[in-house]
Amino acid sequence: MGHVPRGKVIDCRGCVVLPGFVDPHTHPVFGGWRHGEFEQRLGGRTYKEIAQAGGGILSSVRMTRAASEDELVGAGRARVLEMLSWGTTTVEAKSGYGLDTETELKMLRAIRRVGESVPVAVVPTFLGAHSIPKDTAKERYIDLLIEEMLPRVAEEKLARFCDVFCEDFIFNASDSRRILEAGKRYGLIPKVHADEIESSAGAELAAEVGAVSAAHLLKPSDRGLEVMAEAGTIAELLPGTCFFLREQPAPVAKMRERGVVMALATDFNPGSSTLLAQPLTVVFACVKYGMTVVEALRGVTVNAARSLALLGDIGTIEPGKRADILVTDLPDYRHIAYRVGHNPARVVICGGEVVSRDGIPVR
Ligand code: NIG
Ligand code: FE
Repeated sequence: MGHVPRGKVIDCRGCVVLPGFVDPHTHPVFGGWRHGEFEQRLGGRTYKEIAQAGGGILSSVRMTRAASEDELVGAGRARVLEMLSWGTTTVEAKSGYGLDTETELKMLRAIRRVGESVPVAVVPTFLGAHSIPKDTAKERYIDLLIEEMLPRVAEEKLARFCDVFCEDFIFNASDSRRILEAGKRYGLIPKVHADEIESSAGAELAAEVGAVSAAHLLKPSDRGLEVMAEAGTIAELLPGTCFFLREQPAPVAKMRERGVVMALATDFNPGSSTLLAQPLTVVFACVKYGMTVVEALRGVTVNAARSLALLGDIGTIEPGKRADILVTDLPDYRHIAYRVGHNPARVVICGGEVVSRDGIPVR
C-alpha cells in the first residue's frame, strides 16, 4: 500500500463496502415487552382484535408510563447499540407509548439522551397520535395533541417529524390531516403510518400534506400510489412487520410500475416487529416482497436517507457527506439478501470514527 498522509488503513480487500445502513422507522423506547400477545396471535387472534380489547399499543403505554426516564434511556440505548452491531449508523426513533403530555415528553427526552450516548445518529419523531388513551374521547385527545403536546415538543426542540397512525379505526384521514397540519405549523415534517391494517386513504393523505414518507402501505389504493409518485412521497416499506404479523405483502410491483420510491425500515417495536437488523429487512424485502437486491440495498441506504429528508448528509458514500461506512465480510453484494441471519458487519464507521468491530461497539 502506498503513502497514507493521515488516518488509519482498514484492509477491505475482497469485501463489499456499503454506506452505513439508515433505519428510517423504529420505536426503540418503551417499557416492558408483549410476548403474551405474540403467543395469542400465533393462536389466531389478530393485531386489531388485541388492540380493540385494550391490549396492543395501550399495554405498552401502561408499561411506559410506569418506567422512569433513566430506565427508558437504558433500554433504548441497548437496542440502538444492537442495531449498530448490524451496521445501522442512523436511526429514526418515535415516541407514542405515552399518550399523555408528560410521558410523551419523557419518551422524547429519553430518545434525545439515547442519541447523546451512542455513536449512531438518532433522529426523533413525535408520534403522540399513535393511539387514543383509554376513557378519552378521540376529539378531546386530538385537541390535547394540538393544543398542549405539539407546543411543548416544539418549544424543547424534541422532534424533527410528526407522525400519525392513520387507520379508519384510529385516526382517520381527516383526523390525521388536522394533526399533521398542526405539526407543520410548529416546523415538524409529516410522516404517516398509512394503509397498514385497512385501506384508509393514508397514501392519499401523505401526498396531500407533503409528508416525506408513508409507511407500511400493505393496502394502499391505486390512486394513493399515483399521487404519492406525483408528490415524491417515499414509500417506507416494513417487510419485517409484514412477516411478523403474517400479513400479505405490500404491492411492490405496482409501486415500481408507478415510479414510487421505496425505502426500507425495521419498524422495531414491542408489538408488530421485534427486528433490529437491517440485513434481515433486506432478506424479507427480497424474499417476501419481491424486491431486487439492488432495490433493497437502495432501500436501506440512499432511499432511507430520503425518507428522513437527510440525503444531503447520509445514505451514500460521497465527498461532503458524513463518513458513515460499513465494511462487510461479504464477497458479493447479493450475499446481503442471500445469507439469512448472517451479520455482515465487520467494521462500522460513523462520522469518520470506527465505532463497532465484529458486532461489538468500540469504546
Ligand atoms: O408501526 N402500526 C402502528 N405502530 C407500530 C406498532 C406499535 C405496536 O404495536 O406497539 C407499527 O407497526
Ligand atoms: Fe411503526
